Amino acid sequence: MVVVIPRASRYDHPTRAARAGTPVRALPWAILFHAFSVKHRALPNCRATARLIHRVVFVTDMINWDEIRKRFPVTDKLAYLNSAAAGPVSRASQQAAAGYYEKMMGDGDVHWNRWLADREAIREKVARFINAEPEEIAFTTNTSSGMNVIVDALEDRGEVISSELEFPVTTLPWMHRRIPVHLLASVDGELRIEDVHAAMTDKTGIIALSHVQFSNGFRIDPATVGTIKGKHALVINASQSAGAFEIDVKRMKIDALCATGHKWMLAGYGSGFVYLSRELLEQSLPRSIGWLSVERPFEMRNDEFRPRHDTAARVELGCPHFAGIFSLGASVDLINEIGAANLEARVLELNRLLTSRLTENGWPILSPLQRETARSAETLVQVEKAEAVVKHLFRLGVVVTEKPQGIRVATHFFNDEEDIERLIAGMNETRG
Ligand SMILES: Cc1ncc(COP(=O)(O)O)c(C=O)c1O
Repeated sequence: MVVVIPRASRYDHPTRAARAGTPVRALPWAILFHAFSVKHRALPNCRATARLIHRVVFVTDMINWDEIRKRFPVTDKLAYLNSAAAGPVSRASQQAAAGYYEKMMGDGDVHWNRWLADREAIREKVARFINAEPEEIAFTTNTSSGMNVIVDALEDRGEVISSELEFPVTTLPWMHRRIPVHLLASVDGELRIEDVHAAMTDKTGIIALSHVQFSNGFRIDPATVGTIKGKHALVINASQSAGAFEIDVKRMKIDALCATGHKWMLAGYGSGFVYLSRELLEQSLPRSIGWLSVERPFEMRNDEFRPRHDTAARVELGCPHFAGIFSLGASVDLINEIGAANLEARVLELNRLLTSRLTENGWPILSPLQRETARSAETLVQVEKAEAVVKHLFRLGVVVTEKPQGIRVATHFFNDEEDIERLIAGMNETRG
């Protein structure tokens, strides 16, 4: 385990004192998948295959994935397997954001009240999406802004337990406040729950982890962490999971969570959200505030400060970034239309197909796949000369992310079997 005890930063501050209607297509996806699996001998274990197919038929056969795919124009030209970096936006998200700019262009600010009301309706949808209350949700523009708000609320709780697999924004904002961060070693690519438990001491205040790791796709079950966390706060970075995996902050006992809209949420850059439990809201104050963060902002008082304790929206600084919020709203509508469980089943099925095809073709997989429950929708594949491979794939219209060890491939619900086959064929060509 590495413990990072940050030195004084020049930015130090004094510590704060205180769906229905989706058409059914003629041939369910699961049947195609079965035919495909048989053709390509993708699934070696017949009993597991039968279970898998039964589950897919059960969960996803009512959804017309081809029709949903058509809502993402990027799929007309690209095998876009890159949502772990940044997802494409749907026509609906594009129209939601562009529609706002159209109105601002044609009518100026006359729709201000309507936009504020729309923002609140979207706040409710985002809250429902993760089983929170609307008052517990604030809009952000990315993960980093959300994580800093979380650190504001928890900075005097104690030390942080995290993982060596983490994306920097899960750890750095704590270190910036000189809070020791314990980076637990991974074992076979996984963070073990028993290691989290063993690392907890009297000094621990926070367990800060990504739901899905950007580095190797390892997925932790936040609910399991929730059962062992004791009195410590559980902070989840959901940027690699929100939009692909179900999140239930109450059932999972998550105290604070942040996510960007630009990856699996498919809402584009400049969108995101943060969740702070009602309890946390009551116990804390943000470091940064704006004129809308007070109890009666439209009284325009500049001589008294009465901050809101009742809503996470107090961390939204000043006038809203409507375009990002509206795009995010359209994404949440689509996710609700599909259903979070259907969506999760779909991304996992495509990922299973991906890893089967990679293995059949002799490509080593570096993501931990020893337990199906740790599988996510992103897979790290060992590749020599990753830069050249990524460039070759791009020339063929296949988009993936270059990583130090190889390439990262992301299977989102708008992807299909054909995308995976284009990837495999392109990768095989690089063998020369
Ligand atoms: C887990 C995780 N968090 C955060 C980010 C990005 O942070 P931000 O949204 O602040 O740019 C990424 C990837 O870029 C990520 O994989």
